[in-house]
Amino acid sequence: MPQTHLIAANWKMNGVKASLPIARTIAEQSRGLQARVALFPPATLLPLMADVLQGTDIVLGGQDCHHADSGAYTGDISAPMLKDAGASMVILGHSERRHGHLEPCALVARKSLAALRAGLEPIICIGETLDQRQAGLTIPVLSRQLADSVTSDLKGQAFHVSYEPVWAIGTGLVASDAQILEAFALIREHLDKHFGTNAPQVLYGGSVKASNAAHLLALEGVGGALVGGASLTVEDFMPIIRAAD
Ligand code: G3H
Repeated sequence: MPQTHLIAANWKMNGVKASLPIARTIAEQSRGLQARVALFPPATLLPLMADVLQGTDIVLGGQDCHHADSGAYTGDISAPMLKDAGASMVILGHSERRHGHLEPCALVARKSLAALRAGLEPIICIGETLDQRQAGLTIPVLSRQLADSVTSDLKGQAFHVSYEPVWAIGTGLVASDAQILEAFALIREHLDKHFGTNAPQVLYGGSVKASNAAHLLALEGVGGALVGGASLTVEDFMPIIRAAD
């Protein structure tokens, strides 16, 4: 039986209280559809959105977490805090954290363990930059990210991996089928080797929108989508959720 697609909305640093009706409408319009839908608003909206989504099937998640459970880390948010705010998932290792905040793979791995300790399902992101792709380094880069951020410590745990070529994020450029299939084959090999039959779902992210979602979700092995810009409005996001049906 084919796996249910996970359609994840990463709102990034967008959204204020006035955006909550978007979540409510997505929940209403998703009722009865096949996809598992997850919303990742900024942390400031988590408790409010948890209230809005109460009693619906929509999953709520954080966009990052600290590797420690608590402590003197000004400005950071821990996995137990996300859980307390109503989250059940968390995005880790997003390229905007890896590149914008210089987060190395080892830190992503530590954060994943913190997430699991708190009862959160991590979505661990990997992806190559344009320079790395043009230098022929895509496979070595992805292999290193998999080895160092998706470690066998996760065995037996619920988590996901998202392949997001950095050059496809927010650019309107989408990886070709061949590029996606090559990356997914590598990811699948790593997952099968370390996680066996419990191998997690693999998502694609990078300029997913209404016009390409059905095609991307139908590609062999694509278990869902991590959507940025096109998740910010009901009009853009609902067709992506419907494409997973
Ligand atoms: O987390 C989502 C990804 O960064 C993709 O963003 O859909 O705006 O390209 P995008």
